[in-house]
Amino acid sequence: MSKKLEGRIALITGASRGIGRAVAKRFAQEGAHPILVARTQGALEELDDEIRAETGVEATLLPLDLKNHDAIDKVGAAIYERFGRLDTLVANAGLLGVLTPMHQLDPKVWDEVMNVNLTSCFRLLRSMDPLLRASDSGRSIYVTSVVGHIPRAFWSAYAVSKAGLDMMVRTYAEEIGKTNMKVNILNPGATRTGMRAAAMPGEDPNKLKTPESIAHEFVKLGSAECDLNGEMITAEPEE
Ligand SMILES: NC(=O)c1ccc[n+]([C@@H]2O[C@H](COP(=O)([O-])OP(=O)(O)OC[C@H]3O[C@@H](n4cnc5c(N)ncnc54)[C@H](OP(=O)(O)O)[C@@H]3O)[C@@H](O)[C@H]2O)c1
Repeated sequence: MSKKLEGRIALITGASRGIGRAVAKRFAQEGAHPILVARTQGALEELDDEIRAETGVEATLLPLDLKNHDAIDKVGAAIYERFGRLDTLVANAGLLGVLTPMHQLDPKVWDEVMNVNLTSCFRLLRSMDPLLRASDSGRSIYVTSVVGHIPRAFWSAYAVSKAGLDMMVRTYAEEIGKTNMKVNILNPGATRTGMRAAAMPGEDPNKLKTPESIAHEFVKLGSAECDLNGEMITAEPEE
């Protein structure tokens, strides 16, 4: 069977664990060259070893803190020098912060959550835009949450950051409508990861879908064949 991402250069943030890790592995299986971003270098190296053993693909590792915006600009320049383009961007890294009533939220937590979930995504968009335009089919996926459009008590900064992210993407989608690029929003829904366990400690994780089971949705939106733009897709587990 032909691979759906053959030869595509794909940047995936939050690749050290959870959803981003599963997406990175699936992308390599589908023939992409994955560029892996997260803070935890050891986890990225482990993932690189797994990908290499399984697929023969050698990933590019970029250990960095997305709060460092100058570093995001440098990533853009480095990808341009090495590859001259980017075919797929998966802006997946995210931070839960603290679930608490709005008026009790520590401003430091607000700033950090906004920074990682929203501002770093703007900085990525800005830095990767010329590289995605240089591709014949630049595809971007930004990862949101249902609480970004349906209010839920105590989800505080996390919910607000995702609402902002959704509007950023929908605005950008309007702007790129006449280019070869597409940008979409993916809502994974409740998925068995560390973030979900932190948010819902009483829940049985075995009742949740796995990150691996939704990775195919990222393949669909990240491939040249994707013709959606400005949509919000809710991930369904693969049959
Ligand atoms: N799991 C769910 O049920 C669910 C539901 C709806 C939406 N989502 C969204 O799905 C995305 C992935 O979530 P997940 O559940 O897979 O979370 P997770 O297991 O906690 O993983 C989060 C990832 O983000 C990275 N990250 C966090 N802060 C970072 C920073 N400052 N710089 C660079 N990387 C950073 C982490 O890597 P390092 O710690 O190594 O930096 C990690 O790889 C998030 O955007 C989340 O909001 C998840």
